[in-house]
Amino acid sequence: MTILVTGGAGYIGSHTVVELLNAGNNVLVLDNLSNASAESLKRVEHITGQAVPFVQGDIRDSALLERVFAEHSINAVVHFAGLKAVGESVQKPLEYYDNNVNGTLVLVDAMRKAGVFRLVFSSSATVYGEDAPVPYHETLPRGRTSNPYGSSKAMVEQLLTDLAHSDPRWAIALLRYFNPVGAHESGLIGEDPFGVPNNLMPFIAQVAVGRRERLSVFGSDYATADGTCERDYLHVVDLALGHVKALDFLANHAGVHAFNLGTGQPVSVLQMIRAFEQACGRAIPFEFAPRRAGDLPAFWADATKARQELGWVAERDLARMMADTWRWQLQNPLGYGG
Ligand code: NAD
Ligand code: UD1
Repeated sequence: MTILVTGGAGYIGSHTVVELLNAGNNVLVLDNLSNASAESLKRVEHITGQAVPFVQGDIRDSALLERVFAEHSINAVVHFAGLKAVGESVQKPLEYYDNNVNGTLVLVDAMRKAGVFRLVFSSSATVYGEDAPVPYHETLPRGRTSNPYGSSKAMVEQLLTDLAHSDPRWAIALLRYFNPVGAHESGLIGEDPFGVPNNLMPFIAQVAVGRRERLSVFGSDYATADGTCERDYLHVVDLALGHVKALDFLANHAGVHAFNLGTGQPVSVLQMIRAFEQACGRAIPFEFAPRRAGDLPAFWADATKARQELGWVAERDLARMMADTWRWQLQNPLGYGG
């Protein structure tokens, strides 16, 4: 099979390209490098010993997509391309709707014209909204999202659902990621945020390596076991393998299918700090700070459906997530540019 991977130079995309190649597929990466470095793909080539064909371009460029589908015999698309910073999405909603919603629209239109009907979409646990009971289960309706990023994911899910209902040839997986962390065990690829990290794991790792002085823990008075927020962190390689399983599943299942990809285990911010200290053997200086606007106290996955229908489980534990993050951070203190 040849798989078009949009956003394949990014964090989750690059790890997924490794696992798609390991599983015997051919890939073609399309990425505009707005939030990634082409160096990640060179590293993927090093890890797998295989060439990674790459087109630098934008998913909103319909002429480019038409050419890509005409020139390559694509069987399926794994669609990561999009913008993902929640705070920025509040400041720049049009950019988020344009990249995430319009970009997906242009992509699926090009797929339809090219006769390619198998699609795996990067969705998010954020689509469950603010009021959903935990653990989140796929039978819950999409909820009230609190920012343009989350709304863009919910809109794309709806768009893809309507599309699948319009034509029985479509086979679409909506993969709802919980909190991906970690890096490939080689230490060659990992998460490399531009600027100050918004997310917990890269921030902790940059404190550990001395790039940042201390972590602010947002909120200590939540109604959780230790007062800090709880999330379902999963290893990015497990997440990548989930995409391989989803593509297998879609080969025999038309229609639209949502799956939670998480471990099913809530972990607090303080537990994350302690686990990282264990992995790196250094203290992580931190201070308590006010709650971050929009944060939910605790959410985690019911991942039963992915186990039963995809045969997927997250196998890598918290210690492994931390050890692999630390190896990546230590070997690449300044990320791909260092
Ligand atoms: P990332 O920013 O590392 O990867 C996204 C990639 O898409 C980047 O390489 C970027 O250059 C590219 N891109 C962005 N807009 C594009 C466009 N218009 N055309 C072509 N390429 C474009 O992010 P990631 O963490 O790897 O996330 C991948 C996907 O998973 C995103 O859709 C994101 O919303 C979703 N997701 C991520 C998380 C997370 O915690 N990382 C959680 C849930 C969902
Ligand atoms: C965030 C997004 C969510 C997105 C997800 C992708 C928000 C409000 N939500 O989720 O939509 O799908 O990323 O992974 O941005 N924390 C600190 N200090 C920090 C950074 C984070 O204490 O410097 C805490 C947060 O308050 C939170 C936890 O760590 O409790 C995890 O934060 P983060 O990694 O940003 O993920 P989410 O907030 O779950």
